[in-house]
Amino acid sequence: MKLLFIGDVVGSPGRTALKQYLPRLKQKYNPVVTIVNGENAAGGRGITEKIYKELLHAGADVITLGNHTWDHKEIFDFIDDAKQLVRPANFPEGTPGQGSTLIQVNNIKIAVINLQGRTFLPALDCPFRKANELVEKYRKHTPYIFVDFHAEATSEKQAMGWYLDGKTTAVIGTHTHVQTADNRILPKGTAYLTDVGMTGPYDGILGMQRETVIKRFLTSLPVRFEVMSGRKQLSGICVTIDENNGCALGTERILINEDHPFFD
Ligand code: FE2
Repeated sequence: MKLLFIGDVVGSPGRTALKQYLPRLKQKYNPVVTIVNGENAAGGRGITEKIYKELLHAGADVITLGNHTWDHKEIFDFIDDAKQLVRPANFPEGTPGQGSTLIQVNNIKIAVINLQGRTFLPALDCPFRKANELVEKYRKHTPYIFVDFHAEATSEKQAMGWYLDGKTTAVIGTHTHVQTADNRILPKGTAYLTDVGMTGPYDGILGMQRETVIKRFLTSLPVRFEVMSGRKQLSGICVTIDENNGCALGTERILINEDHPFFD
């Protein structure tokens, strides 16, 4: 069976690209579950209830988040009721929302865990210890465990992949918005990719308007970033799972843009 994960949806261009390509990707891969990182889905930062529902309607089964989780104040009004929304699990105890979820699709239970790195990102609880705790909890219920590790540093992401090798189906990185080419299956059966990449503007800088980002580098002054318009892209990964033990059997990176067109 297959699992589809789509990387960081950025603003309305990202949502448009998701709606444009996800039905065709589902037709091609026939995934049992589709997970989408939506932490930049509302104007490039955070998520709203309307957009949460929009992503579900577009075909996501679970939506993961990251360091922009709290950027829209209204998140606090709906996160506790949003059963298909997962924010990083290593926020302190008592934080609103859930850090993981166990979903059931056609009698198959799949655990989805979201974690956030601590290198070049705000200090949170240890993602490794939290991962261990959650994996132990979910392995009593299912061998299918997916981890979205939202982190900046490649070393921290690789460390998480190797730390969870053999304990989870996949450890896939998000946050840097540029897809890396290192998808592989680690020796004990965990699919790994340092970063799945971004779904949204193709010609911006990490999805944002180029001019504003360049201005900030040139002047070091505070500049408000807006989502870039124009050409779009979609980034994702399809993981084939061994139904007997939850190990990964294969990975296929998905990158769709004008330089890498979609083929059925
Ligand atoms: Fe992020």
